[in-house]
Amino acid sequence: MIRLIYASKAASNLPLDLKDILAVARPHNRAAGITGALCLINGVYIQYIEGEEEDVTALFQRILRDPRHSGAKVMDRAAIESRAFSAWTMGLLTWDPESEVIFRSFNGRQEVLDAYAADPRTANAMFQKWAASANWMTV
Ligand SMILES: Cc1cc2nc3c(=O)[nH]c(=O)nc-3n(C[C@H](O)[C@H](O)[C@H](O)COP(=O)(O)O)c2cc1C
Repeated sequence: MIRLIYASKAASNLPLDLKDILAVARPHNRAAGITGALCLINGVYIQYIEGEEEDVTALFQRILRDPRHSGAKVMDRAAIESRAFSAWTMGLLTWDPESEVIFRSFNGRQEVLDAYAADPRTANAMFQKWAASANWMTV
């Protein structure tokens, strides 16, 4: 299995997009054995995807073609022994003060939180911390 973390710029900041994305993503990911987490903060998507390599690669190819975002850049891609989000076909991290504290602990001071500029070297560690926090919405 592998994990893949990327950041991209949302075409719109409407929560409607998120709802639509997750409505399609969850049944698809369940069928494909994909788990992970998605976060939208200040117009930036940051997503963690894990599963069998060919499944993650195929999904990411599809996601790259999606007009609801642009400029996707891979921050982290690595082999994994076990899943970090085994309970989530695609968890939605709801942004709150605790998620912000975690973000800042890995990325230092920023005036406006910019997940697109997050440090790729700590992106996985940040998601592991987020995974252990309580701020998850089933939609
Ligand atoms: C930020 C973002 C994250 C997405 N995450 C997923 C995902 O985890 N799983 C998924 O199936 N589709 C996801 N999508 C939607 C896909 O891009 C695509 O619309 C969907 O899989 C349906 O593809 P199809 O129309 O080719 O069947 C995401 C889209 C965006 C913009």
